[in-house]
Amino acid sequence: MNKITLGIDIGGSGIKGALVDTAKGEIVGERVRLDTPNPSTPENCAQVVRELVEHFKYAGPLGVTFPAVVQHGVTLTAANVDKSWIDCDAQTLLQNVTTCPVIVLNDADAAGIAEMTFGAGQGVMGTVAMFTFGTGIGSAFFIDGVLFPNTEFGHLLIRGKDAEKRASAKVKEDKDLKWKQWAKRVNEFFVEIDKLFTPDLIIIGGGISKKFEKFGKYLESNADIVPAKFLNDAGIIGAAMAASQLSK
Ligand code: BGC
Repeated sequence: MNKITLGIDIGGSGIKGALVDTAKGEIVGERVRLDTPNPSTPENCAQVVRELVEHFKYAGPLGVTFPAVVQHGVTLTAANVDKSWIDCDAQTLLQNVTTCPVIVLNDADAAGIAEMTFGAGQGVMGTVAMFTFGTGIGSAFFIDGVLFPNTEFGHLLIRGKDAEKRASAKVKEDKDLKWKQWAKRVNEFFVEIDKLFTPDLIIIGGGISKKFEKFGKYLESNADIVPAKFLNDAGIIGAAMAASQLSK
């Protein structure tokens, strides 16, 4: 097990990296954010990842999150990113460009791993659902602490539309929704989640979770609902944790 591991979070507007003490779930030192290149093709993003690796003078296993379905290192979808990521062998590309052993995982799954190990879901058994509200809605599902990867509940249809097109943080901003109005949309999503999965606990993640005191009171589910502990760092921490399991 590697204790200090580099985690990188590829997002629609920024690519962020930090060294993580994976035994404690803590970022060590600075976080560095570089703009996501335009166009955000795999090759362009890989160069930014390489810059971050060089910035940290890092050699070792590297964890990278990506906002799409990632199966065995291949990115299969691209809802909010350049479509050239569809069917891209991101793991091989990033390994070639950085010369580090790389693991690539879905952004919400990575955030969930961090929360389940060191945050709001620590030690919680049963079914835990984490949702990240940002440009889209990411989901991470755990059964007795074990991740069921690549759930894509942000694309569940609500009133004929993807849930994330009705209730993401971006939609709240674009439509200038009040907290209560936005929470109502989130609750429609939770009705479906409750109906299908009966989670014991729902963890609300993404940058918006730091405003939980403003909207948490309006959220409804049969599950307990709590804010994430790590806010936007969860992806970096979870990616590093996953990478620390890679053999050198
Ligand atoms: C993608 C998910 C991702 C989520 C949050 C969705 O549009 O399909 O894979 O986890 O956005 O970034």
